[in-house]
Amino acid sequence: ASIKPWGGRFSEPTDQFVERFTASVSFDQRLYHHDINGSLAHAAMLEKVGVLTAAELKDIQSGLEEIRAEILEGSFEWSVSLEDVHMNIEARLTDKIGITGKKLHTGRSRNDQVATDIRLYVRDELVLINKELSRLQQGLVELATREASTIMPGFTHLQTAQPVTFGHHMLAWNEMLERDYSRFQDCSVRLNQCPLGAAALAGTTYPIDRHYSAELLGFDRPTENSLDSVSDRDFAIELASAASLLMTHLSRFSEELVLWTSAQFKFIELPDRFCTGSSIMPQKKNPDVPELIRGKVGRVNGHLISLLTLMKSQPLAYNKDNQEDKEPVFDIIDTVKDCLKAYADMIPAITVNEDVTREAAMRGFSTATDLADYLVRKGLPFRDAHEVVGKSVAYGIAENKDLSEMTLDELRTFSSDISADVFDVLTLEGSVNARNHIGGTAPEQVLSAAKRAENRINNR
Ligand code: ARG
Repeated sequence: ASIKPWGGRFSEPTDQFVERFTASVSFDQRLYHHDINGSLAHAAMLEKVGVLTAAELKDIQSGLEEIRAEILEGSFEWSVSLEDVHMNIEARLTDKIGITGKKLHTGRSRNDQVATDIRLYVRDELVLINKELSRLQQGLVELATREASTIMPGFTHLQTAQPVTFGHHMLAWNEMLERDYSRFQDCSVRLNQCPLGAAALAGTTYPIDRHYSAELLGFDRPTENSLDSVSDRDFAIELASAASLLMTHLSRFSEELVLWTSAQFKFIELPDRFCTGSSIMPQKKNPDVPELIRGKVGRVNGHLISLLTLMKSQPLAYNKDNQEDKEPVFDIIDTVKDCLKAYADMIPAITVNEDVTREAAMRGFSTATDLADYLVRKGLPFRDAHEVVGKSVAYGIAENKDLSEMTLDELRTFSSDISADVFDVLTLEGSVNARNHIGGTAPEQVLSAAKRAENRINNR
């Protein structure tokens, strides 16, 4: 007799290569905790409806808990010939408690079992991801509050555009992360339906209570359709797509950190503990952490495409293709958690060189729009004002002078509408303070936006 739980109808052993090729235990053993929890709920349900006796349930419960302990302490022997985490654990249960172990799989298939396990696993990991994401957001809000009135150049096309406050810039990243948080949250709500009872694909003939097993596992309800339950992995694709967006945001943010730590920008300093050196150039301090995170988006995007392609064209219901969902899902989760941890640790430790950022804002005629707006207030149509200021910028470039460094007489050569009060709008502080509306860069607005952001994080 074969040791395969499905060996009955086979007349020769599995080819050794095929055995290794089709096995998933090397990676899906990571699901053991959730597999055991799923089995406990299934067994409790079978007892409730009278398929198992109370004594049988007790044996199954203690057997599964012993197995959990064996796996935890590392003494459990995983066997490739038992293919996956599910059959390894079930076979061990039968070793331990005998015939009752063979009853656990009544009214169940590995198809609804694995669909349950992976949902439980992703659900737990989403909680951890969002916890770390919240910690990062806390750090960003803290940094934004600290640097609410620090002036830096805002950029479009990476060319100096208008002055902004450093805090405002940080809160822009926080808004993106806020949406990432809600996407992960949303994903965990939609996946929270219990596939148990779908069995292989069509349901089962036992008088099962699907609401009960769903409730025991903390699902909102049983899934509605047995064929759908065992076949779709859209929740994994949602996780991947939310993760890709998060990683896209982190990679953009990382690009800025890399630029800003360069000798050419010098906007910020990263503490040494987040950087590494060069084996040849003694002076180097490289921003490896943001660089690596900028690169990690590649593997997460790759996994998103893997999962979409894996799902594409699969007919109903379960197909072995779906075994290929695990490695991408696991790697996405590991990658996202590591990147978030690195970021959450690093962000509060950033120091800003405010003299440098101020000087940079000074250099690029960043208050040119303010001068145009000033002329509009004096009665010029905006297009004419734009033209006047353009000419004064050209003059400034030739004379190597910022607008605020020109004398009143110099400025009045471009428009007689300019008078002494112009200098109030040409200063960097005047420029940012004037943008004092919700969503604007004024320090006052940054402080209240940071407060609102903090409240949102605290009320999760
Ligand atoms: N290891 C399989 C997976 O990950 C478990 C389900 C297998 N079911 C089956 N009938 N082959 O998808």
